Amino acid sequence: MLGLTFHARRGPPMSSMSFVHAFPRQRLVLGAGAIDRTAGEAAAEGIRRPFIVCSARGRRSALFARLAGGFDPRAVTVWDDVPLHAPLSTALRAAALATRDGCDGIVAFGGGSVSDLAKGVALALAEGGDIERFALRREDGRIVGQPGTAPKVPLLAIPTTLSGAEVTPGFSLTREDMYKVLFRDPQLAARVLVLDPAALDDIPAPVLAGSLANALAHGCEALYSTARTPVSDLFAREGLARLMAGADARFHPRLDAAGTAGAADGADDLLLGSYLVAAAIINARTALHHATCHKLAPVLGASHGEVNALVLPHALAFNLPACPAAAADIAGAIGAPDASVEALVERLDRYRRQAGLRRSLREFGIARSALAEVAQRIHAEPGLAFNPRPIESAEQIEAMLQQAW
Ligand SMILES: [Fe+2]
Repeated sequence: MLGLTFHARRGPPMSSMSFVHAFPRQRLVLGAGAIDRTAGEAAAEGIRRPFIVCSARGRRSALFARLAGGFDPRAVTVWDDVPLHAPLSTALRAAALATRDGCDGIVAFGGGSVSDLAKGVALALAEGGDIERFALRREDGRIVGQPGTAPKVPLLAIPTTLSGAEVTPGFSLTREDMYKVLFRDPQLAARVLVLDPAALDDIPAPVLAGSLANALAHGCEALYSTARTPVSDLFAREGLARLMAGADARFHPRLDAAGTAGAADGADDLLLGSYLVAAAIINARTALHHATCHKLAPVLGASHGEVNALVLPHALAFNLPACPAAAADIAGAIGAPDASVEALVERLDRYRRQAGLRRSLREFGIARSALAEVAQRIHAEPGLAFNPRPIESAEQIEAMLQQAW
């Protein structure tokens, strides 16, 4: 007879689970032809005078013509000056125009820079020009900074990359000195997300590969963040699986000789995946990887996406030995037959080779001696508060940058 003793439980069952998970008020419209529903969705949000933010390239696209065609042309203001990294000064100029035209809602058509600029416009419209007073910073290992309380106009977004920027309440605007100012305001997550697979039709291969790396990083950081919740885990796992399926369809077998991705294979999986992993980081937040990219990309004069593709393998190598359970979660999400983090890194490397992205820091022209100072800047980033491996000094970050150099 086995010597087992069972003790009756007294009182209510104990639970080790305790968390808060916030959902933004957000409507998701996904499918072929979704773009044609944008004007109706905007009207349902009470928008009469939309302010459309897009890139100059986006404005020339067939999809933009369909978007704009849904609105009364006399009621629309279009802003198509969106430099890389969304300069703060540009957001303020755009907000002045939106104020002049009496705009009562914003439609963001584009990738991360468009989305960040659109949120900056909404913030300045509501709170006035001195928006830097709402910037986030890290003090004693904690993030401080309060969002403004003035009501914001509704935002609608049609993403044309996988950055997922429109999904989250966080965004950044870049100062003249190339310092990225971080903001977070729950009112600035898009109210309506219009995901139309045609939006990925003419995405250049380097933009696709870079924004895919950004999205994969959202999934990985969501699964290893110290702020993860069981709900954000669900979103991150499913999002990573969708991204991998979509990337498979998209990158294998074809990128034509000009480096352009072929038909919109996998576009719906890619868009849904990028939404899911971005929804995961609303609660799980991001950590070392994004802190590094936020500071590196403006210094290198490179896109957030390309820098994501460069940094992700190094951030994973830095963090995953310290969080084996999260490493197993990431590997599991990638799925058979490749279920391993190595397979993720190897596939990412293949995609960025195919797209012609740079694969070492030195290819961006940054001197090795400059890395210590960049590491100091990264060390001050708010997001390090959620890193699974504690970071005691900027030297640890510098060592990672040396690996990437
Ligand atoms: Fe990102």
